[in-house]
Amino acid sequence: MISLDDYFAAADTHRLGRFSEALRTTLKKRYFQKIHGDLASWEEHLQTLPGVRPAHWNFDSSAIEIGEPSDLNPAQHQLLLKGLQGLHPWRKGPFRFFGHLIDTEWRSDWKWDRLAPHLSPLSGRTVLDVGCGSGYHCWRMAGAGASFVLGIDPSLKFLYQFYAVKHFLPDAPVYYLPLRSEDLPLNMGCFDTVFSMGVLYHRKSPFEHLEELKAALSPGGELVLETLVVPGTAETVLTPLDRYAQMRNVWCIPSAEAAALWLRKIGMMDVRIVDISVTSREEQRRTDWMKFLSLSDFLDPECPSRTIEGYPAPTRAILVARKPY
Ligand SMILES: C[S@@+](CC[C@H](N)C(=O)[O-])C[C@H]1O[C@@H](n2cnc3c(N)ncnc32)[C@H](O)[C@@H]1O
Repeated sequence: MISLDDYFAAADTHRLGRFSEALRTTLKKRYFQKIHGDLASWEEHLQTLPGVRPAHWNFDSSAIEIGEPSDLNPAQHQLLLKGLQGLHPWRKGPFRFFGHLIDTEWRSDWKWDRLAPHLSPLSGRTVLDVGCGSGYHCWRMAGAGASFVLGIDPSLKFLYQFYAVKHFLPDAPVYYLPLRSEDLPLNMGCFDTVFSMGVLYHRKSPFEHLEELKAALSPGGELVLETLVVPGTAETVLTPLDRYAQMRNVWCIPSAEAAALWLRKIGMMDVRIVDISVTSREEQRRTDWMKFLSLSDFLDPECPSRTIEGYPAPTRAILVARKPY
């Protein structure tokens, strides 16, 4: 089991240190006392990765770059591929480990490219990424200059994918805790920028989620909210009868204007809708590193502008807002 000690060692020398005791208590219940059935296999695959410290890395490129091909001998290349393949499916990326491209289901770099021009500079900031998945965007945040990045996500598969990167770069100021946003201590008020991307519609109570994000921000801090949206006015919200694009856990999808209204209603300021994009079958697709069904299987073959349930096809909006002082 991953100890998470790297986070606590760093937090204890940072303003986040005052929350360590509360976080340790929550993690005991949510993580350390729960043994996932696949844990032994993930552990084995993580242990398989060669123990090499690369001299070169780059978090500021489309594929997060870790090392160069010449850093490993042929046996180590084999071990690397075995370990990474054991952590299939790779959904969020891409990554390039010592020359091997992990072509993930999602081109998460496209989302980054859409949002990056609208961010306040991340340089020197303490950043929280709620629902960070494999942590791909956390590495991009560090690449953009953030001095401390914490990603949280309850998915343990993603935790192991994150540590497949961290294994090679233990000193990077990027950390991951297997938590939900509802598990964060109340009113942390210490993050300069908080991202919540792809989480809002998974929450039964979206306003609670937005309040949690606001509570984590420092006064004047910036919130980046990315969510599925539907066409419509500020009063339009889709509550799927059952599944949406085959996803079971979608509770409600607002229009972009409704999401903006929700942010204003919880007291956020300077709310801006900075991007609305239809997800293409090039952005989310099956690859050698994600062999399960993907977007094209979830759209109506006769009418790809609808999901197979007959709803508007996945479209995503990015909103930026500021917490008042
Ligand atoms: C659609 S993925 C988005 C991943 C990444 N943020 C991105 O934009 O590519 C949603 C992620 O949110 C996580 N998640 C779901 N509910 C959550 C919650 N209450 N708190 C934090 N993360 C959550 C899921 O485990 C999943 O990894």
